[in-house]
Amino acid sequence: MQQLGIGIAFTGSGSCTPSFSLSNQMLSQVVETSDEWISSRTGIRERRLADADTSLCAIATEASKQAIAMAQIAPTDIDLIILATSSADDLFGTASQIQTQLGATKAVAFDLTAACSGFVFGLVTAAQFIRTGVYQNVLLIGADILSRWVNWSDRGTCVLFGDGAGAVIMQANPCDRFLGFEIRSDGTQNACLNLAYRPQPKELITGVTISQGAYQTITMNGQEVYRFAVKKVPEVIEKALYRSNMTPAEIDWLLLHQANQRILNAVAQRLNIPDEKVISNLANYGNTSAASIPLALDEAVRQNQIKIGDKIAVAGFGAGLTWGAAIFQWGR
Ligand code: COA
Repeated sequence: MQQLGIGIAFTGSGSCTPSFSLSNQMLSQVVETSDEWISSRTGIRERRLADADTSLCAIATEASKQAIAMAQIAPTDIDLIILATSSADDLFGTASQIQTQLGATKAVAFDLTAACSGFVFGLVTAAQFIRTGVYQNVLLIGADILSRWVNWSDRGTCVLFGDGAGAVIMQANPCDRFLGFEIRSDGTQNACLNLAYRPQPKELITGVTISQGAYQTITMNGQEVYRFAVKKVPEVIEKALYRSNMTPAEIDWLLLHQANQRILNAVAQRLNIPDEKVISNLANYGNTSAASIPLALDEAVRQNQIKIGDKIAVAGFGAGLTWGAAIFQWGR
């Protein structure tokens, strides 16, 4: 995969979640549900929720500071900041607010929206800038506060999601650690999972109508999304492995978007990857959308589970529909 002689290394990670944890038991005060139903169908036991004073910028900035410290670089070394999110504080973008909070004065910053695939799409986007020699040091953040957008009276969706942020530092490196990727989208299935704008016509002047609506809450066809994930995620991982010249047996860790333990198990089974190689922390956080992969990655790195040189297959999937996989080695 290496082009132009420029390799990519993964040198730092960080994460941040709000401190308040809502258990399944507590959720049963909000909708008619039970710990038994949620944990048996999803594996989720609790999720962190941001309070009204907690911004996406704040948790993303904290995750970024940890990643920068681990990489042993200064904020002023960063050339590019990509914020993968679907729940920005500002629809015009939140990445530049994070840039300011970090003091990353040299960096250009922008948001990238690809729902729960956002972190993997961000990895691939960041890699292009490094490969082509344009930038050397990239901060990639996955962060979401979907509790802002969940329909808290829909028990089919509100039990699934939680809030959080994770970040990685990717750097130009003589040795290439970014081994391969494949990213996909299929808009024909867009209606399966939406956070859509509801237009409300307003007559501006006679004969001229514009729309001044608002965003709705998340709607989802759970069974369709489940079927899509279990079919498409193994395919895209196999494609990324093929591009990396690797087989599933050569992976040290399978790190999927943390949506549902049953999806994690089914994908691992399809690829013949044993349970002990599957990273899972969704019991504690639920589905944190673009944050779920870097959050689980950071925990595994800090617990010394993922070690320098380990080969990791990550895969994201979700609204769009979008899905994608990337294979990389941790460290320089
Ligand atoms: N508590 C209790 N009962 C619930 C419930 C809840 N939180 N949510 C739904 N139910 C009920 C339904 O009303 C239905 O009842 P009925 O049979 O009387 O109509 C029953 O449980 C089964 O519902 P169903 O939607 O068929 O459940 P399921 O087995 O498909 O599981 C999901 C639902 C959401 C857990 C599952 O479809 C899933 O995980 N899909 C993937 C979703 C996902 O990961 N999305 C994000 C991708 S990024």
